[in-house]
Amino acid sequence: MLTWDDFDEKEENKPALEAEKQVIEKSIVEETNITAENLDSEPASYASSSSERKEKALAGLNDLDTEAGLADLEGASARVSVDEKQMINCRADVNQLVPFKYDWAWQKYLDGSANHWMPQEVNMTADIALWKNKDGLTDDERRIVMRNLGFFSTADSLVANNIVLTVYKQITNPECRQYLLRQALEEAIHTHAYQYVIESLGIDEGEIFNMYREVPSVARKAAWALPFTNSLSDENFKTGTLETDKTLLRNLIAFYCVLEGIFFYCGFTQILSMGNRNKMTGTAEQFQYILRDESMHVNFGIDMINQIKLENPQLWDEAMQEEAAEMILQGTALEIEYAKDTMPTGILGMNADMMTEYLHFIANRRLTQIGLSEEFPNATNPFPWMSEIMDLRKEKNFFETRVIEYQTGGALSWD
Ligand SMILES: [Fe+2]
Ligand SMILES: [Fe+2]
Repeated sequence: MLTWDDFDEKEENKPALEAEKQVIEKSIVEETNITAENLDSEPASYASSSSERKEKALAGLNDLDTEAGLADLEGASARVSVDEKQMINCRADVNQLVPFKYDWAWQKYLDGSANHWMPQEVNMTADIALWKNKDGLTDDERRIVMRNLGFFSTADSLVANNIVLTVYKQITNPECRQYLLRQALEEAIHTHAYQYVIESLGIDEGEIFNMYREVPSVARKAAWALPFTNSLSDENFKTGTLETDKTLLRNLIAFYCVLEGIFFYCGFTQILSMGNRNKMTGTAEQFQYILRDESMHVNFGIDMINQIKLENPQLWDEAMQEEAAEMILQGTALEIEYAKDTMPTGILGMNADMMTEYLHFIANRRLTQIGLSEEFPNATNPFPWMSEIMDLRKEKNFFETRVIEYQTGGALSWD
């Protein structure tokens, strides 16, 4: 049995323990000799066949080079310090998460994880009844549901592919990568949510998933974004030059400020407005959770863009600023086209003119968030309830409410 004396004794023996630790560390560094005994069954009761395969396998282990790849990294033999960390082109070990340099990235990872949700948690019964009732929704309302499922079901895949196949590799900071992994999972959940709605309502899946090729206002948004991911998808693409660093920055502005930051906003507003009016409440609830995730994705992307600008001021020259402003204006124009196409007449207390002003208001925000001037001075927000939904300070309460209401089988309230 342990006594306090044991602890005292250990404290007194501290120098001896330290010496022992050093011996162990030294032996790990110097040599790790793995022998056939590691795969031997003795003295166990079961048999162990002796085979060439085992010998070959063990021979491979003894050839392991623990220094391999470290030559490319500066200071790899030591622990990474905060000063060595950088957003891009960092040569310090990207596998060492701590010490944190970008607390905002880690905090967003924690916040995103605290808001985890799954599409099956949402009750779709009322939506199914309404969708199947011939008189349940007007043609305009049905168009809005169809178009938005069509756009979002592929747009979220586009975002996920951009993160996993291009951005993740180029962002050389582990806490940002941790958030990118979280975001990639959330994008998978969003695509799952659209699939879940499509399946619940019994909609033709082929029609929905091909809309980004077939409906011009949907197709043009996807077509605008694709070149920005394609320019990085070449396996030889590497940051480190002025031009390639700018290509990465362009990709981040396209995906975070425009695709997630503008292209999602007409659709979110339309579906959430239906929910406000007690129509398609399950679908609206799914979109509400997605919007909360998305507003965090946008904030994270903007933090990344600004941090890269800060660390690499040469990238943010006049030409790049001009280009970024033009990209945001192009995205705004395409989203207004989408608003007009999805809302040819006034609907749900909103119309294309109101949506245009809303998108001008959003464009101003995206511009100023990355340090550019507003393009639509005095544009106001005609849908203040949207800002309320996105208010992160309310997020926690919102999710607590959701859990309680879900347990009682109720839906969200739309106060
Ligand atoms: Fe998403
Ligand atoms: Fe997203």
